[in-house]
Amino acid sequence: MQIIRSISHMQRLSDRLRQEGRRIAFVPTMGALHRGHLSLVELAGRHGDSVIMSIFVNPTQFGAGEDLSRYPRNFERDEKRAAEAGVEVLFYPEEESMYAPGHMTWVVNEGMTDILCGASRPGHFRGVTTVVMKLLHIVKAHVLVLGQKDAQQAAVLGRMLEDMNMETELLLGGIVREEDGLAMSSRNVYLDSASRSEALHLYQALNAAESLIRSGERRMDHILDTAKRVLLESGSITLDYLEFRTFPELRRPESLQGRILLAAAIFLADVRLIDNIIMELDPVQ
Ligand code: PAF
Repeated sequence: MQIIRSISHMQRLSDRLRQEGRRIAFVPTMGALHRGHLSLVELAGRHGDSVIMSIFVNPTQFGAGEDLSRYPRNFERDEKRAAEAGVEVLFYPEEESMYAPGHMTWVVNEGMTDILCGASRPGHFRGVTTVVMKLLHIVKAHVLVLGQKDAQQAAVLGRMLEDMNMETELLLGGIVREEDGLAMSSRNVYLDSASRSEALHLYQALNAAESLIRSGERRMDHILDTAKRVLLESGSITLDYLEFRTFPELRRPESLQGRILLAAAIFLADVRLIDNIIMELDPVQ
């Protein structure tokens, strides 16, 4: 696996890969790699000839008081995991080169970023769209591979690709879970053992909602109330949001049919966790 730190070096290598007719599949990450990321590498390998991964803890997507300074960083471990998973090129830029002094240009989605995670993380998606646009110009990917766990991020970035007439194709990998159901996340390392077991309520709440829906229930309020009850059985959880949205448009659905996202975010002490399910629903007969 080749490790590249310089933007221009990465651009020249991507030019060469393209000239050789190779399809570049790109997995952007902030490191702290876990099985969720590795499953995206595997998906990328099935849809591209060269898998490029980036590791960059993007400062512009963290708000004041968020976890930028304590975000887990362990490059040696990530490097080993990426190589074992089959990454061909690991792009690991310096912060100063990604945001040179005087940087003042932003990519902003104005319709889908003040809801769900965007409501409690103002500015977050501006950082995400900007850095991913920059990374796509550097890596020149044919395919962008993202995880469903960050469903709003995937929807916003999909919209960006469309709105900006980019030729990059978006692929969404499913959520990878721990044995007991907790969605894999780099932030799970912040949980102590008590919070770790409380966190399971998030998965159980989504499961309870899904079971109701699969059994034919379509009353959104009733489903949300049931899921909230499961969540709040844990005295330590504060609910940020639990909402139905159409996917990938992220509109409030009039009824539960078509492609529906049920997304949730909670706080457990100072740790913010998200999870979701996406369902294809036929109208109930
Ligand atoms: O999902 C992430 O890890 C980040 O938001 C991303 C897409 C790498 C942009 O920094």
